[in-house]
Amino acid sequence: MSSHCLSWAYSWLTLSTLFCSVNCAPAEIYANLKPRQAFATHGREQISLNSGWRFHRTETNSDQIAYDDILNYSINNEVLKSWILPSANEFIKDAANRHQRPAGNPRTTVPQTRKNFDDNTWQEVNLPHDWAIQGPFYAGYGVPIGGGMGRLPVQGVGWYRRQVEVTQNDKGKSIYLDIDGAMSYAMVWLNDKLVGGWPYGYNSFRLDLTPYLSLGKENLLAIRLDNPTNSSRWYPGGGIYRNVWLTKVDQTHVSQWGTYVTSKEVSSHSAIVDAVVQIENTGNSSRTIEVATDIHADGGTGEKIGEFTRTKITLAGGEKKQINSSLKVANPRLWGPFPQQQPNMYLAVTRLYSENKTIDKFETPFGIRTLTYDANKGLLVNGEHVRIQGVNQHHDLGALGAAFNVRAAQRQLEVLREAGCNAIRMSHNPPAPELLDLTDRMGFLVMDEVFDMWELQKNPYDMHLTFADWKEPILRAFLRRDRNHPSIIAWSIGNEVGEQTTGTSGAEIAQTLRNIVREEDPTRQITASMNAAEPNMPFPGALDVVSLNYQGEGIRDTPAYSQLNNGRKTPPQYGAFHDAFPDNMILSSETAASLSTRGTYLFPVTDGISAPVNDTSGGNSTTMYVSAYELYTADFGSSPDKVFVTQDKNPFGAGEFVWSGWDYLGEPTPYYSARSSYFGFIDLAGFKKDRFFLYQARWRPDLKMAHILPHWTWPNRIGEVTPVHVFTAADEAELFVNGKSQGRQKKVESSYRFRWDDVVYQPGELHVVTYKNGDVWAKDNVTTAETAAQLKIKPDRAIIKADGNDLSFITVKVTDSKGNAVPEADTAITFAVSGPGEIVATDNGDPTDLEAFPSKTRKAFSGLALVIVRAKAGVSGSIIVTASAKGLQSGKATIEASE
Ligand code: GAL
Repeated sequence: MSSHCLSWAYSWLTLSTLFCSVNCAPAEIYANLKPRQAFATHGREQISLNSGWRFHRTETNSDQIAYDDILNYSINNEVLKSWILPSANEFIKDAANRHQRPAGNPRTTVPQTRKNFDDNTWQEVNLPHDWAIQGPFYAGYGVPIGGGMGRLPVQGVGWYRRQVEVTQNDKGKSIYLDIDGAMSYAMVWLNDKLVGGWPYGYNSFRLDLTPYLSLGKENLLAIRLDNPTNSSRWYPGGGIYRNVWLTKVDQTHVSQWGTYVTSKEVSSHSAIVDAVVQIENTGNSSRTIEVATDIHADGGTGEKIGEFTRTKITLAGGEKKQINSSLKVANPRLWGPFPQQQPNMYLAVTRLYSENKTIDKFETPFGIRTLTYDANKGLLVNGEHVRIQGVNQHHDLGALGAAFNVRAAQRQLEVLREAGCNAIRMSHNPPAPELLDLTDRMGFLVMDEVFDMWELQKNPYDMHLTFADWKEPILRAFLRRDRNHPSIIAWSIGNEVGEQTTGTSGAEIAQTLRNIVREEDPTRQITASMNAAEPNMPFPGALDVVSLNYQGEGIRDTPAYSQLNNGRKTPPQYGAFHDAFPDNMILSSETAASLSTRGTYLFPVTDGISAPVNDTSGGNSTTMYVSAYELYTADFGSSPDKVFVTQDKNPFGAGEFVWSGWDYLGEPTPYYSARSSYFGFIDLAGFKKDRFFLYQARWRPDLKMAHILPHWTWPNRIGEVTPVHVFTAADEAELFVNGKSQGRQKKVESSYRFRWDDVVYQPGELHVVTYKNGDVWAKDNVTTAETAAQLKIKPDRAIIKADGNDLSFITVKVTDSKGNAVPEADTAITFAVSGPGEIVATDNGDPTDLEAFPSKTRKAFSGLALVIVRAKAGVSGSIIVTASAKGLQSGKATIEASE
């Protein structure tokens, strides 16, 4: 067996881990995460191909190859589209539309694909890999990649090469390459022969290597990726940024994503589970096998609770067959969103037998639950109303870039959960498959989304160029991969596509895509997000769920736009859509688009509840910071307070997905000289902005929490009016400045914060006492800091796995000698590590910081900095992390790496 072979036991979160509290023991969750389908028994081997690659990137396509001339490269390029298109055939229903591979090989051969090509000077890399995240950032104007795409060098052509191991034992097997995501225009050669590819960077895809392999010899895999400039509205990343597997199976095996498990007639007493298993025989001769599927409780760790009828089938050479079977499960433990319900998982284990020998074993995690989409009540899960308290999340992981890392994604979900978030919209593309494993197990609801544009471009070189050829395969591949995840509650076929407003032609495309979704998964409703479609247009009629972006709370519907009267202003639209679609569930797939920079407060503060940011109101285009009084927004946006008002007036709405949960790379509205967004209520480094607490107060009304802003260290504001706001679920609050009451307030209807806008700054202490129903609820205080004296260091986890992937996220806080946070500290901090770990990246959440992420020196921003440390594979021991800065007492933390 190959040394890359994984044979980890299939284990799941124990319930005690899941339900311990909002902040579950993260180490345990991480340790229990199963690599997807990673086992090597019973005829199926799933071998990680993540290590040992050689990589080289050029900024232009100097290799004379292009996917298509639509990419507008030099005319000498050979266009390889007709060799790539056949890779889509599995996902094209009508045989007449499938693609015939041209005879022979392409005219142009390139040295990079040859075995004897010398790649010794190329960089050694492991996957998941994002070639751009190391930087450096492009600063200023006229650069190849500007603020929109994150100012990082994503553009150009990247080549990856490595050997693949196959032995004589693999004779007669089918051998596949499974790539979970490669950005973008992937083309794959094996032993100098073009195998195929997949242009869309967000899909997982499979290529059959079998015909091109030489058993017992060296086999050279070469993968070429190509990222055009002007191809994305945000940071796409570049490279093979998700896992890659070599899958070896008997010629008769369960197909790629070959199972589909659903449930019906669900109650707490019983449920019918239906399983569809697709089997294929890639050999030449006919084969008779038996198919058996068992169900196990507790995600697979629990007892066997049933088995489907064992079925005997004969498949002719080259044939595919589906087996449908049903099973009644007594007293099912239902899957539901945390914390209202419990995310119970089951595991279906399918085995194929030939002459009583197991020739394939395929595992399908699934959940049993019902979804009801109610136009007046919202979403019901297992008959119980669950308000969608969701956020939008992009695919990047901040300083780690697009390169997927389970622990980093899990941390994002943990911080979101602390706010009371129970739902994620995968804006705007298929996520890493492991992220859906996490949402299943942690109990988040998911809106899974596939496209940000269709035929109409948002950028000249975005994926509208390939939509005509690839819409069906992209969509079917997306659905087949993801449809067993119980966390997914709806499919989104598009975000703010231009076709929303093109009348019947746009609605026809929506209908075509919707029909495909129906074929692949009739169990969930379909939607597409609308920021511009109106209730009387054909587009919303082609959808099940009405998903509004910003229209729910109204667009440009604030006093600042009172003079605007040109159709760009929309009053709140919940009611209008509800009237036009009285049977459809309505939600907001994007709300707010509020902007802020953590720890930055600008004066004066608007006395309204929502205002577009500009240089005279909430913004500073010189520093490129936006005030964190959390009242300022993108010009089309609304503060959370304004969003909440419209939601409470329209209680039939199912809830919202805030734009956005975490900050992300690129799209730095309103300051395009910056690198990362201002929309998140959590910054890029994972530090909470004040807005986090505004959502927490609403989403966790039982949490005894009060949060004061701003900070209280203003040496230049003595005697000046400095408004103080408090976020809490309490209904009364009294603020004290140095012990003197500033008044006790009652929360009035349609207000979601306490504000004392006339407070005059004096150094000392701010203190708030809040009350609910007359009883003390929660308190908070903020103290004026003295000069910076020390660095306080805190890892998120003190024990991590020595597996080469696990991470510790370590926060460093600049404090005075008494331990008070120094809120505006921008001290340059230098990090060092000893022991079996390494620094992967540093950050501070400052959207304007163009210091490359791998830098070991990072300025604190608003008093905080982050260092991300990874344990080395296979070496246990203590990792000592130190943070030092001139004139300050250093901080030191110890993290245990354990095998
Ligand atoms: C929406 C869009 C998102 C993001 C957001 C904030 O219109 O769907 O992708 O761009 O605005 O600008």
